[in-house]
Amino acid sequence: MMKGLCILAFILVFAAMAGNSSFPTDAAAHTSEGEALVKNVCGRCHSAQRVCANLGRDQIYWERTVTRMRQNGAALSAPDISSAATYLAGQKKDTAPFCN
Ligand code: HEC
Repeated sequence: MMKGLCILAFILVFAAMAGNSSFPTDAAAHTSEGEALVKNVCGRCHSAQRVCANLGRDQIYWERTVTRMRQNGAALSAPDISSAATYLAGQKKDTAPFCN
């Protein structure tokens, strides 16, 4: 009887840990969301080169710039701005998938 309870407790702890490990998956989802936004939205008014020329800048630059793009007319929600800014702040000119 005690042994059965121990096994049950072990399974519950393990299941809880497995649930918490969803964090990296969320981060990956965030990245691919940012990438899709940049590919779909940012080339509509100017070329991607305009974006690429500014890669290497930080999150604050990108949040300001993407917010300004919304004022310019880009179709972006507040969470989109944050996803796109996080994604762009992590990209480099020579490796960004939308720059070649
Ligand atoms: C609705 C049209 C439109 C869309 C969509 C758009 N932009 Fe722009 N973008 C502009 C205009 C107009 C300018 C020039 C005026 C300015 O800098 O605000 C510009 C300029 C820029 C610049 C140059 C800023 C500088 O200081 O030299 C960057 C970088 C940029 N956009 C990035 C982006 C990114 C990233 C996206 C996607 C999230 C995007 N743009 C989507 C209209 C747009």
